[in-house]
Amino acid sequence: MSTKKASMIVEKDFKVSEVDKRIYGSFVEHLGRAVYGGIYEPDHPEADENGFRKDVIELVKEIDVPLIRYPGGNFVSGYNWEDGVGPKEDRPRRLELAWRTIETNELGTNEFVDWAKLVNAEVNMAVNLGTRGIEEARNLLEYCNHPSGTYYSDLRISHGYKEPHKIKTWCLGNEMDGPWQIGHKTAHEYGRLANETAKVMKLVDPSIELVACGSSHRKMPTFADWEATVLDHTYENVEFISLHQYYGNRSNDVANYLALPLEMDDFIKSVISIADYIKAKKHSKKTINLSFDEWNVWYHSNAADRKIEPWTIAPPQLEDIYNFEDALLVGSMLITLLKHADRVKIACMAQLVNVIAPIMTETGGPAWKQTIFYPYMHASKYGRGVVLNPIVSSPKYDSKDFTDVPVLDTTAVYNEENEELTIFAVNRDLDDRLLLECDIRNFEGYKVVEHIVLENDDLKQVNTATSQAVAPHNNGDATNDNGRVTATLPKLSWNVIRLKK
Ligand code: AHR
Repeated sequence: MSTKKASMIVEKDFKVSEVDKRIYGSFVEHLGRAVYGGIYEPDHPEADENGFRKDVIELVKEIDVPLIRYPGGNFVSGYNWEDGVGPKEDRPRRLELAWRTIETNELGTNEFVDWAKLVNAEVNMAVNLGTRGIEEARNLLEYCNHPSGTYYSDLRISHGYKEPHKIKTWCLGNEMDGPWQIGHKTAHEYGRLANETAKVMKLVDPSIELVACGSSHRKMPTFADWEATVLDHTYENVEFISLHQYYGNRSNDVANYLALPLEMDDFIKSVISIADYIKAKKHSKKTINLSFDEWNVWYHSNAADRKIEPWTIAPPQLEDIYNFEDALLVGSMLITLLKHADRVKIACMAQLVNVIAPIMTETGGPAWKQTIFYPYMHASKYGRGVVLNPIVSSPKYDSKDFTDVPVLDTTAVYNEENEELTIFAVNRDLDDRLLLECDIRNFEGYKVVEHIVLENDDLKQVNTATSQAVAPHNNGDATNDNGRVTATLPKLSWNVIRLKK
């Protein structure tokens, strides 16, 4: 093994933007064991009086998730929200068509809002624009946010919720560009419906923020035209356009896999360009921001999911078991989101518990941390403040689909209030450690608090309920000598270098 060198200059005044904490959001869908057996398991020894697993609550709090998208996903496009409110014994069982299971409706809007409060998160609520439309969206909003004195607000009160839920962020449907979506639409059909729904929802509550559906992923055949058409219809009535992207190392090509955040970066830049093109076309002063409200690794469970028997309750679905290389990719995806903090104001790791998730549970057994838990937790905990734009000089490599991939993927976040500077860095090199020299010229008096490292000799190493084989240590060697920080970034590693005055 040899050593490569990289350098960076971190300047207080080279600001990208204040981080909107909602960039560390997540997602809980009525899918698989995310809700039933995940956040909610009344028979579990760790369940509280409402059936919520306290061990799961503790792990979600450890990540400090500020916003959670709910109830879907594909699920929302066939969902009747009315099925999930009121006395539990009256709630219907339904055929859930998106994932072909039985939905018991034991948990619905109010219970989810209760749970979100326990983990200190806001709810990012999605409305059904697949099988339903304006009427149901306005009723749900009135039910959730109107104080009292109307049919739906009084219905909420009669269900035991005197205070309105005050849900601020709402998604206008889910992945409506996808032919798999229940009630799939063309961009014109969706754009018209989303705009009329947005208008009516804002009449009910003008304080809400709305997310219009962008493409389901970068390679959708309708990508770009879809965004342009949808924003042409909705521009003045929405605040966000969504992006979704999942990756997988299907051809077992690690160098290429770890370069995929370059494509994510390009996706973000493209959507910004499209949004700004519509802004120019409309001579608008308003800027549309990005909600990257589904992102993660998703491929390990694909084969197992094809064998699931239909019409069962909460079967294990999309239960990807993540390995060490996935944690590196997730770290890089987080860095990519942070680099665009000026326009990406919401992002949701999809998902949170059991379903393509950082937290896993065993039914009746323990809850445990997947490998990807760690970079997500580090970014959410230490990545609050202002994202800086470091000048980086790094060795590069070429892979199957990418050229000039920087070996060092990095960004820095400055928290002025706490007088903390955090450098997040992935060393993508397959063979060599990287000696990082970082000039932090105007951070006088800052000392290294810790250098956290996630490394492992085995890229395919996973964690289980009984073993945390992939877990960070804080024995990294970063030091600061008069504004010159040096650190060794082991080959294939995720690093968090924390400095404080
Ligand atoms: O997160 C899993 C699924 O991925 C969601 O339901 C859907 O929106 C996306 O295709």
